[in-house]
Amino acid sequence: MKIPDFKEAKKRTKEEIKILKNEYNIPDDMKDYGKNKKYFVKTYGCQMNEHDSEVISAILEDMKFTKTDYYEDADLIILNTCAIRENAHNKTFGMLGRIKHLKQEKTNLMVGLAGCMSQEESVVNEIIDKYKWMDFVFGTHNIHKLPEILKEHTKSKKLEVNVWSNEGNVIEGLPSKRDSKYKAWVNIMYGCDKFCTYCIVPYTRGKQRSRMPEDIIDEVKNLVKDGYKEVTLLGQNVNAYGKDFKEKDYKMENLLEDVAKTGIDRVRFVTSHPWDFTDKMIDVIAKYDNICNYIHLPVQSGSSKILKLMGRRYSKESYLELYKKIRNKLGSDASITTDIIVGFPGEDEKDFEETLSLAEECKFDSAFTFIYSPREGTPAAKMVDNVSKEEKEKRLYRLNDVINKYAKEANDKYVGKTVKVLVESVSEKDNSMLAGYTDTMKLVNVKADKKYIGQIINVKIEDAKTWSLDGTIDE
Ligand code: SAH
Ligand code: SF4
Ligand code: F3S
Repeated sequence: MKIPDFKEAKKRTKEEIKILKNEYNIPDDMKDYGKNKKYFVKTYGCQMNEHDSEVISAILEDMKFTKTDYYEDADLIILNTCAIRENAHNKTFGMLGRIKHLKQEKTNLMVGLAGCMSQEESVVNEIIDKYKWMDFVFGTHNIHKLPEILKEHTKSKKLEVNVWSNEGNVIEGLPSKRDSKYKAWVNIMYGCDKFCTYCIVPYTRGKQRSRMPEDIIDEVKNLVKDGYKEVTLLGQNVNAYGKDFKEKDYKMENLLEDVAKTGIDRVRFVTSHPWDFTDKMIDVIAKYDNICNYIHLPVQSGSSKILKLMGRRYSKESYLELYKKIRNKLGSDASITTDIIVGFPGEDEKDFEETLSLAEECKFDSAFTFIYSPREGTPAAKMVDNVSKEEKEKRLYRLNDVINKYAKEANDKYVGKTVKVLVESVSEKDNSMLAGYTDTMKLVNVKADKKYIGQIINVKIEDAKTWSLDGTIDE
């Protein structure tokens, strides 16, 4: 049994990051393990978590499991969890309650926990105490070991917990069963060293480790060959890409340029921390047409006092300066979105009004807004949480009003224009329509023939709602 330890997870050593290329293999006696068995993977977290689920799925399929979309039909269920806020926790435990009932009827069912919650000491202790009926727990650092973990469990028939706390390596050569045939997630780095005081990610994902540029470029080139139209370069703080290289001077602007040069139609990247956003990066984004004019630039708060308590390393003024620089260089057509937390410890009415005024000034295309949720083991969890629940809810409501107003305003500007849309699927809302995104990340519902799915088409926008646009194909 290997249980997570936050003290270990917090450590950052100077040890060289190793790129390991031969770590993933399936033991001979596990190669047919999934024959005639179905698997179900549920994802709770961010894009990185989604991509991890694609890797988990591919590993299971390498063992001959087949996929099902219904957990009731599965022989193996894996919950790929998120730890970012309390409600992510609650959702997972709610699902485990339902699965427990299923397991009582279906005794051969295997159930595993993966993802960021698996990296939390308290969660794993709770599983060991109260969820002994589960079969295995693995973390974010040892996904490639899943075949061995299943093998151990088959031998022991007991709850197998195998979570690594401190990982300093990059595992290459993992398979991936991508959900989309048109757009793909590509990890460019793992972990985060920023340690914002409210955030659990540096503990659940470990130290910052950049993948080698050539491995990333090769992956993108293969995606182009396979007909992919869009890649999203993933990292918790992609702008810090390459800062951990000891010998080479190769940063995010270099990577962006080299990925753009592969000729893929669209390049996206998330998430950008304002601290590491360089002028050179902005120049490269402006220079290449296939680098999307879409920047997700989380601000978290408009109060410099709160930003300091959050450990974000910038002030309201320096954020605004960067924001304006990006706008000036990329033009008013560029789309800039953000993340905001309300009700951080110590946030008073004046601080919150600073956040509102920042939102008014930036007129974001959209924003993810959250109520602060204390995460055990983080510095902010020890601060006095002095904002009442009612007040937090009120602030979220007031903030969303401003965000929604500008989201609609930004969308209104599209009416009458013709824009390029990567059509991904039939629209969820209306199955006579197709749905896709502009390079500025606007959801567009479009009247067009299904044959256009997977293509980038011109769409004339006719109507704007707060969160989507409607249009017709402009042939
Ligand atoms: N790496 C990204 C953020 C990843 S987490 C960045 O630095 O911008 C996504 C968002 O969740 C964060 O931007 C933040 O707004 C929110 N978040 C993180 N921890 C939180 C917490 N403890 N309570 C509420 N929201 C939180
Ligand atoms: Fe969390 Fe901050 Fe790292 Fe983003 S940059 S993942 S908010 S610690
Ligand atoms: Fe959640 Fe982990 Fe992503 S905590 S947001 S799944 S990095």
